[in-house]
Amino acid sequence: MRLRNFLAALGTIPSLVHADYVDWRSFKANGVNLGGWLVQESSIDSAFWARYGGNASDEWTLCQNLGPRCGPVLEHRYATFITTRDIDRLAKGGVAVLRIPTHYAAWIDFPGSQLYSGNQTAYLKSIADHAITNYGMHIVIDVHSLPGGLNGLPIGEAMGHWDWFNNQTALDQSLQIIDNVIDFIQNSGSPESYTIAPLNEPADLNKESMSNFGTPAVLSDDGAAWVSKYINAVLDRVSKVNSKIPVMFQGSFKSPDYWYDQIPDDANLIFDVHVYHYEHPPNTTSANLPAQLCADAKQKTGSGKFPVFIGEWSIQAAQRNSFALRERNLNTGIAIFGQYTQGSSYWTAKFTGNDTVNGQGTQQDYWNFGTFIDNNWVHPGSESVSC
Ligand SMILES: *[C@@H]1O[C@H](CO)[C@@H](O)[C@H](O)[C@H]1NC(C)=O
Ligand SMILES: *[C@@H]1O[C@H](CO)[C@@H](O)[C@H](O)[C@H]1NC(C)=O
Ligand SMILES: *[C@@H]1O[C@H](CO)[C@@H](O)[C@H](O)[C@H]1NC(C)=O
Ligand SMILES: *[C@@H]1O[C@H](CO)[C@@H](O)[C@H](O)[C@H]1NC(C)=O
Ligand SMILES: *[C@@H]1O[C@H](CO)[C@@H](O)[C@H](O)[C@H]1NC(C)=O
Repeated sequence: MRLRNFLAALGTIPSLVHADYVDWRSFKANGVNLGGWLVQESSIDSAFWARYGGNASDEWTLCQNLGPRCGPVLEHRYATFITTRDIDRLAKGGVAVLRIPTHYAAWIDFPGSQLYSGNQTAYLKSIADHAITNYGMHIVIDVHSLPGGLNGLPIGEAMGHWDWFNNQTALDQSLQIIDNVIDFIQNSGSPESYTIAPLNEPADLNKESMSNFGTPAVLSDDGAAWVSKYINAVLDRVSKVNSKIPVMFQGSFKSPDYWYDQIPDDANLIFDVHVYHYEHPPNTTSANLPAQLCADAKQKTGSGKFPVFIGEWSIQAAQRNSFALRERNLNTGIAIFGQYTQGSSYWTAKFTGNDTVNGQGTQQDYWNFGTFIDNNWVHPGSESVSC
């Protein structure tokens, strides 16, 4: 009985009995991102970056600096950072959805790109198969970067790269990438287990300063028009091949309402809203985080024309981070997002970065979902939450 309640609270029961395609209007699931696996970030794994990254601020430069060693170093990373044992551990913690960030180079090798194209999709396939076969997990394939650069950040291609916007070559290449993702899913043996997330955090107004990142103002109307052109082309392509595969749209930090009139009413689409408070608002603390998450769940999720998933979030607060409040904040977030949206995926499954935070500890104390599972902290059903 308790186990059943626990699973129901986490939203895993539907996926355990699911053999059909996911309809995100009714499907609910919670899970994690597999950050730092097929997309490297200096903050996620300090030891890896210290060993291989040198003075590089992004994977593009890391690879440039490593030269011919880049391939072997990254292939080793793919083989070891996430293994089937990690998936077993996540399953134990009730994880029912995996959002998996990939660089575009996982899908296609463009001349001139310093991002490494190797065996990413083979590793992706073997981890996804394990998660699907053994645990009925749902897989969100996240194309985290796009050619030319999506947001000037290391994750969008490389630091200082914004050339994806208003660039027809980059758009055409992006659609080739999506065609390859569609092929992968269609040939996976379980296409019903996948959702496609074709872009992440597009931003073009963070060139002077990063202070508006995480707010609607980080993407211009002109930039949004380009995003709209892309997402419509993606919807068109996916629906022509298999209209049952959902598309998850990370519409930067704008409200889903902003996009409604630019998307066909019958699109098989779910919005992905990201919720972070490690910088904004600057008065967020571990103590007031639950109230902030309540406000997010009500205000950032739109008026309901399309379903919403919280594709990334974490419990680090801008100020006064507290060890003692982590368990409460974790379960509050999972519970609230499960109540107001179709669920959430935490950023991220494994995190050993040691950057300092305001208050107690370092980043790894707040961002590592694996530790939360090991500590038996994941029990959102038991958190009494009222917004
Ligand atoms: C963080 O980790 C790196 C790499 O392991 C190490 O060189 C550095 O000293 C650590 N910093 C702190 C503050 O512990
Ligand atoms: C980083 O190191 C490389 C050599 O490994 C050097 O060529 C480059 O100038 C350095 N860049 C910075 C920003 O320090
Ligand atoms: C990719 O995997 C294949 C098959 O396992 C292997 O033969 C090949 O060497 C791998 N490529 C790289 C770049 O590691
Ligand atoms: C357009 O994007 C491509 C990447 O696909 C990039 O190589 C090129 O420099 C960009 N062109 C402009 C004019 O920004
Ligand atoms: C944080 O600041 C905002 C705007 O300055 C204010 O509306 C809000 O009440 C503050 N929250 C707390 C918990 O102090």
